[in-house]
Amino acid sequence: MIYLDNAATSWPKPKRVLDEMTRFLAEEGGSPSRAGHQFAAAAERIVQDVRIRLARMFNVEDPERIIHCFNCTDALNMAIKGCLKEGDHVVTTALEHNSISRPLQAMVDAGLITVTRLPLTSRGFVEPDAFRSAITPRTRLVATLHASNVTGVIQPVEAIGRIAREHDCLFLVDAAQSAGVLDIDVQAMNIDLLAFPGHKSLLGPTGTGALCVGPRAQLKPWREGGTGGDSVHPTQPQQLPTWLEAGTQNTVGLAGLSVALDGLQPEQTLAHECALMQRLLDAVLDNPRIRVVGDPTPARCLGVVSLTLAGRSPFEVATCLDSSFSIAVRPGLHCAPYLHRELGTFPEGTVRASLGPTTTESEMDTFAAALGEIAAG
Ligand SMILES: Cc1ncc(COP(=O)(O)O)c(C=O)c1O
Repeated sequence: MIYLDNAATSWPKPKRVLDEMTRFLAEEGGSPSRAGHQFAAAAERIVQDVRIRLARMFNVEDPERIIHCFNCTDALNMAIKGCLKEGDHVVTTALEHNSISRPLQAMVDAGLITVTRLPLTSRGFVEPDAFRSAITPRTRLVATLHASNVTGVIQPVEAIGRIAREHDCLFLVDAAQSAGVLDIDVQAMNIDLLAFPGHKSLLGPTGTGALCVGPRAQLKPWREGGTGGDSVHPTQPQQLPTWLEAGTQNTVGLAGLSVALDGLQPEQTLAHECALMQRLLDAVLDNPRIRVVGDPTPARCLGVVSLTLAGRSPFEVATCLDSSFSIAVRPGLHCAPYLHRELGTFPEGTVRASLGPTTTESEMDTFAAALGEIAAG
């Protein structure tokens, strides 16, 4: 299988991840607790170890402000539902994944908030000045992704963060596609809430992710319950991370994520993926039956490419790639309907190829040749 669906979840995971998850389950698979038996303490060590590593990676001052979540959607819901109050206004963009758009829309439909969704500028992202113009005295939150899961285009989050801070808004960044390949410094970028999965470019297993909660953000919990320690309080203990982290953690997943973080090479991965993307573009751009969507330029993109083939639906192309060439891509709207509307590819969407650190030149060449064959009919 040539796996080009890394934007959904990365594959293959490094062997050290598989080994550590197996070891943890076989040898010390307890539920975490600071004051518990040896297995509980071992699980707690892993939970804390990942917190510390993630805090270091994203320059979060206090590791207790890293809240373990089950994926990026979970983290985004925690952020959005936790910080917004009745009467608030939110500025967001047409680039967003449904993991931001749907929780916001549900709050709009409930009559709680209003939302301004900024359209793209001509080069596939949203200019920082558009955020400045859209912010009103009621704007509590500015929410944007860091890199598009459809086109790979990178948003200028540093400039947007400055504008959000100047206007005293909270700044939420969805780093689903960028965590593990792009530098993220929550302090330098004025990010108050950073949501990311552990299972994409951080190379951990599914069921992992986190939310970094900056000191300016006061969140209500969106789940309450056991915390493995303080059981006396009738309500959720208010200190982080337990305030937001009820229930048994995904300890086996965190064991895998912990060692996945050990071997990450974000800069090399980005350079590798951009070089492969350029190779693919060079191979397909001259084909009049293949359209590359969204103005991708490797210098300002991640390794994600969206394509359409003349006269073929994206589902048909993806099915043919899978069944005849054993190539895994993702067709459709990629949970980003507003973006596909702007790109003119709604409702059928595109064929998305997303690369990973183990994708090879020869896999790119095979993919480009397969596209050429399908395009030729
Ligand atoms: C930009 C973006 N945001 C959010 C998500 C949701 O991530 P998860 O699948 O970890 O919930 C994705 C998933 O592909 C994504 O690409």
